[in-house]
Amino acid sequence: MKPTEKLYTDPTVPLDIRVEDLLSRMTVEEKVIQLNQYTLGTNDIENNKGVEVKNIPAEIGSLIYFGTEPELRNRMQRHAMENSRLGIPILFGYDAIHGFRTIFPIPLAQACSWNPALVEQGCSITAQETKQSGIDWTFSPMIDVSRDPRWGRVAEGYGEDPYANAIFGQAAVRGYQGKKLDDSISIAACLKHYVGYGASEAGRDYVYTEISRQTLWDTYLPPYEISLRSGAASLMSSFNNISGIPGSANHYTLTEILRNKWGFRGLVVSDWGAVLQLINQGVAKDLKEAGKLALNAGVDIDMMSHSYDKYLKELVAEKEVEPTVLDESVRRLLRLKFQLGLFENPYTPKTEASARFRRTASLQVAEELSAQSMVLLKNDGTLPLHAVKRLAVIGPMANNDHDMLGCWWGHGEDKDIHKLLDGITDELKKTEIRYAKGCDFLGEDESGFKEALQAAKWADVVVMCMGEKGNWSGENNSHADITLPQIQQRLMQKIHAIGKKVILVLANGRPLVLGSAVDMSNAILEMWQPGTDGASAVAGILSGRINPSGKLAMTFPYSQGQIPIYYNRRSSARSNQGFYKDMTSEPLYSFAHGLSYTHYSYGELSASKTTLSKGEKVKVSVSVTNDGEHDGMETVFLYVSDPYSRISRPVKELKRFDKRMIRKGETENFEFILDVNRDLGFVDDQGNLFVEAGEVKICIGDKKLSLEIK
Ligand code: BGC
Repeated sequence: MKPTEKLYTDPTVPLDIRVEDLLSRMTVEEKVIQLNQYTLGTNDIENNKGVEVKNIPAEIGSLIYFGTEPELRNRMQRHAMENSRLGIPILFGYDAIHGFRTIFPIPLAQACSWNPALVEQGCSITAQETKQSGIDWTFSPMIDVSRDPRWGRVAEGYGEDPYANAIFGQAAVRGYQGKKLDDSISIAACLKHYVGYGASEAGRDYVYTEISRQTLWDTYLPPYEISLRSGAASLMSSFNNISGIPGSANHYTLTEILRNKWGFRGLVVSDWGAVLQLINQGVAKDLKEAGKLALNAGVDIDMMSHSYDKYLKELVAEKEVEPTVLDESVRRLLRLKFQLGLFENPYTPKTEASARFRRTASLQVAEELSAQSMVLLKNDGTLPLHAVKRLAVIGPMANNDHDMLGCWWGHGEDKDIHKLLDGITDELKKTEIRYAKGCDFLGEDESGFKEALQAAKWADVVVMCMGEKGNWSGENNSHADITLPQIQQRLMQKIHAIGKKVILVLANGRPLVLGSAVDMSNAILEMWQPGTDGASAVAGILSGRINPSGKLAMTFPYSQGQIPIYYNRRSSARSNQGFYKDMTSEPLYSFAHGLSYTHYSYGELSASKTTLSKGEKVKVSVSVTNDGEHDGMETVFLYVSDPYSRISRPVKELKRFDKRMIRKGETENFEFILDVNRDLGFVDDQGNLFVEAGEVKICIGDKKLSLEIK
């Protein structure tokens, strides 16, 4: 091939050579404009409104696309391919967080399924619907460990445990990215928000996070390090100020750790306006300095701050940004565009919406994931329902559609939503059902109480459908008060006073403080915000068709004053003192809590060897018998605790889990392979791994086993 020929347009040429060829042809202006992301279409995201960019240049690197049909994307793409000098395709992104049009349960709920394979299936359906609608890249999964339910964004992630976030992060990446990024149904994943955003002080959004280096390495980095191993194409730099240096200007996290230590070659995009916000956070005097800090720290793409497009050229000319740094960021973006096959297939083929969205098989996965996400918090035997003649279904969630979706509902449509009342009516065909709303989610209006009380008096059993509206959690939705709203509590009290059996079905995007609602309920089912297809799962659990199998991925505090409260805390100096004087120090429902209609007995633990050397592997086994009355799915959790070491370890740490069907009367053997270094070692505040000699305990269910490291 002659040197003048465009190697980058030849799909037979190796990817890195294509990238270098294209890069070598680009002017500084062309490079700079590639590193920006604007929006295309009407922005439907409440927190980021009013900033649509007009007259988008053909050379733009990336766009957030709000459409559900490929036409507009294709038109814009044609502009880029035909009207720019080099014909570089645009990369289109969107927040498909828990679905595009088929909406799955919120991610916090998905984690409670403890079924990564099912979560992966959900994400691959999202990828298919998203890609065929004209989008190449989703800003998901969120793998921010979060221990404060006041923070609205707990709904978007996988709960309080680093390992759980890592495993579900990997599952999501596999689901989105499929076998190959350039498949017609794969999209690029984006791990976010790197890093420590979940530590937002007192649960307030966008604020300071106090994270020691030890905690950074122990708690907040592992989900990223592990999820990157499944090939995540990109990562988003966070809003939060990490102990003085904001996530989007943090050279230590973005370059020293991510690039130099972990060797990540993928793309880093800033969060929305995060570069501009470096000024508010007090580390940049103006937008130009903000851009300089962000790019030099390792943020490749500026999402909607207009710092790179305005100042990057100048910064390079002034030698404030090295040309090699600019090139490296462009290289990462181009590589992803090549990997996605955008140069060969820049346009999205048109398909019928009916063929693309809500396919029968997709709805089955959505329903199954909803069912496995739901957590039976309490049950005195009222559930499953037996031969109930008259059932009252009461509460603001009962006949509600939109709030089933939760936050970030993509392009989910209210008309697709299966409502609780409909699900219950369809399921309990022999039961007479009366519905009364009773009250709204909030407010003082008790005018509906009368009708609700009449229905409750008439009924044998009352199902109360209560909780939070979908938009009470998610971004910019911090709540200082996470108790059940007063009006809902008053309605419960009145119904309780009638003396009928009460089943509380909860919809919420965060753990709640349930207070007296617990004692007023015979059973409590946490259905979370289950998406478009969750109602029949609720009905199936009520009827006994489905045996509940979800377990909490985040602790429910007993009181707001206990927050933060999480299972993997470090030991106190005094094990018998220091508790609250005014109430219990225990949570209401702890991490991994979740009831079933059957009963499981755990056998003794055994290990392939009990004296171990560094670098070895060990197999730990346990048999679990379903000795109850129903078939069921049980999740077995394996925890490790290290009684003492030079840097103290949490009281216990989740290292493995496995969920399996165990038929009534049957026994399943669960085996877990642990790696002494990775699973029984620990890191210091620089990320150096240590394996110390001494005892390590393994704990599964109520059984324990000691291992000795030589
Ligand atoms: C959120 C991100 C999101 C981005 C783009 C930001 O405000 O923090 O999670 O991906 O907007 O919509």
